[in-house]
Amino acid sequence: MSDMLNVALPKGRLGEKVYDIFERAGFACPSIREQNRKLIFENPEAGVRYFWVKPSDVAIYVERGAADIGVAGKDILLEYKPDVYELADLRMGVCKMAVAAKNGFRDDPTRTLRVATKFENIARRHYASLGRDIDIIHLNGSIEIAPILGLSDVIVDIVETGTTLKENDLSVIEDVLPISARLIANKANFKFKSAAIDRIVSEINQQVGAK
Ligand code: PRP
Repeated sequence: MSDMLNVALPKGRLGEKVYDIFERAGFACPSIREQNRKLIFENPEAGVRYFWVKPSDVAIYVERGAADIGVAGKDILLEYKPDVYELADLRMGVCKMAVAAKNGFRDDPTRTLRVATKFENIARRHYASLGRDIDIIHLNGSIEIAPILGLSDVIVDIVETGTTLKENDLSVIEDVLPISARLIANKANFKFKSAAIDRIVSEINQQVGAK
């Protein structure tokens, strides 16, 4: 573990917005704005090192301490329950987890419901709370195709603008959970770097108007 603050950022537009907040908190790393394919950027003067990682992998880096902090979606935290601290809600990347089906779908409660999803644990917990029997079909992407091809009855997936559902003649039949991006920290490293991490938490809270 180095003295530098190691930060796992989700690759993509959300990650770039998150970097802006970190910059305002005093952790600038100007080279990160250069358009190239590098994945690691550091600024020793500011004591910070950033890694661009696949959004769904951020929690793995943080849980294992390869990154001290990172930004992960609440969907990933609920699905995989990594052993990390959740320190702040960035109120970015706002979307919801929902159940969707073909327009006009009517559920037959006497039959096992076939559910296609990337979020198997979230789906299982949701239907267990309803006492509904389901058969999970685990997919890795383009989940919306499953009900169209008759592979599943419904999907449990992320809905942001709703465009993907609409353009595939699907609609939400039930909301499951609200989702947004969260700041997470490795439990052991947090103790040694709490001063730096606290600066970031307070910058985030100021930005989003939280107490
Ligand atoms: C997510 C999600 C939906 C889409 C929803 O997919 O799985 O497909 O975004 O967004 P919308 O409501 O704004 O249309 P993602 O781009 O993460 O790709 P995926 O197919 O790998 O899930």
